[in-house]
Amino acid sequence: MPREQPDFVVIANRLPVDRVTSPDGEVLWRTSPGGLVTALEPVMRRHDGAWIGWHGAADEKLRPFDHAGMHLVPIPLTEDDVQEYYEGFSNATLWPLYHDVIAAPEYHREWWDAYVRVNRRFAKKAAQIAAEGATVWVQDYQLQLVPQMLRALRPDLRIGFFLHIPFPPTELYQQLPWRREILEGLLGADLVGFQAPGAAQNFIRLVRQRVGHKTHRDTVYLPDGRTVLAKAYPISIDAEGFETLSRTPEVQARAAEIRESLGNPETVLLGIDRLDYTKGLPQRLRAFGELVADGLVQLDDVKFIQIATPSRERVNSYKLLRDNINQLVGRINGDIGRIGQQPIQYLHASYPREEMAAMYRAADVMVVTPLRDGMNLVAKEYIATRWDNRGALVLSEFAGAAAELKQAYLVNPHDINGLKQKMLEAINASGRETSRRMKALRKQVMENDIDRWANDFLTELNAQRDPHGKTTRP
Ligand code: G6P
Repeated sequence: MPREQPDFVVIANRLPVDRVTSPDGEVLWRTSPGGLVTALEPVMRRHDGAWIGWHGAADEKLRPFDHAGMHLVPIPLTEDDVQEYYEGFSNATLWPLYHDVIAAPEYHREWWDAYVRVNRRFAKKAAQIAAEGATVWVQDYQLQLVPQMLRALRPDLRIGFFLHIPFPPTELYQQLPWRREILEGLLGADLVGFQAPGAAQNFIRLVRQRVGHKTHRDTVYLPDGRTVLAKAYPISIDAEGFETLSRTPEVQARAAEIRESLGNPETVLLGIDRLDYTKGLPQRLRAFGELVADGLVQLDDVKFIQIATPSRERVNSYKLLRDNINQLVGRINGDIGRIGQQPIQYLHASYPREEMAAMYRAADVMVVTPLRDGMNLVAKEYIATRWDNRGALVLSEFAGAAAELKQAYLVNPHDINGLKQKMLEAINASGRETSRRMKALRKQVMENDIDRWANDFLTELNAQRDPHGKTTRP
């Protein structure tokens, strides 16, 4: 049935749903656990909005469908698109380049061609469905050309872009053979949002140097009179939702069960990450292994749970990382474990929100030590579940979250001795000290949740450009 044209459209590489098969074989869609959909669902409902994205399978065309009050518009990707646009340019070129070249970015012209081709497909679909004067919000590094392409097709639209990952220092960004095209792609937006002020400044400086436009503070002045604003909007989580979930009797019982299964140690340390080389897993595991080997913590007293969620498994650097971590965990457990006493519980799997909440509740020390991270929402989720003000957060200085979570045990993850020292401090901290810190962390996270993020961005986007005197209430 034809639907009215939406006046609010989200474009992201992925649709906010996962396909699941029920026990009786029925195929269903389930809302993904991510925070973005939680924030945008109410806005989508209010405006009869649509979400354009890929549904996660290659070579499959699906019709638009409705799910949980949202209109979802699937974009098909061929197997070649998946290899060249998603695994290639997005995740083997841009991802490592934007994360300070922790892995070496690969530059291939065919991947770039696929990136252009697929970005155009997303832009065309949005141009086709959006109502006159609609607000379109483009998400993340996979779709940086969409703002410009969309503006060329539909100058009437109000276009926002948000980058969820870091934007690299100008010296690194210059490596990209298509640096100018991407900057121009982003300049198609009225408002370009970043996680950190430094990222927005990197962008402005590059636009001045590489594209030659006039800039002043956070504004770019284009020759046609249009202006583009580049600012920071640190993303957050559905803090109250997480807290509520973690207070349920089921989650609390499960948390107790988790501790019990570890032999009720005094201290449980926890890491939860996508299995990604940006997350600093080897450094963290090595530091913990050394604490045990040095006799600074006792195996009976302390256990480490590391969850690594499978991610981008066909991309080379991810395959290598998986083997490395398997080897490292095996070596550490083999060297310092005893019968019935495995120091690191390593699980390569993904878990539903309830189980994550139970793990957060079971953990005394949360260890979040990425080498580079746009924000890191795991750190914020942990805090949201600590309603009793207990628990400590060890957090990398190189996670965007460190700018807000100043009372965490902040650490440079490259410095293994420093990491050991901070982990030890967090393990041995008094109840008074941890609760003093946690109170402050909780104030920050509970007051700055994902609704606020979406509201701030959309309010600024409305103010930035009002082509038809229409405003979209966030
Ligand atoms: C990061 C990116 C997202 C991406 C997610 C999962 O958070 O910023 O855009 O969706 O990782 O990665 P995947 O490649 O599975 O979509």
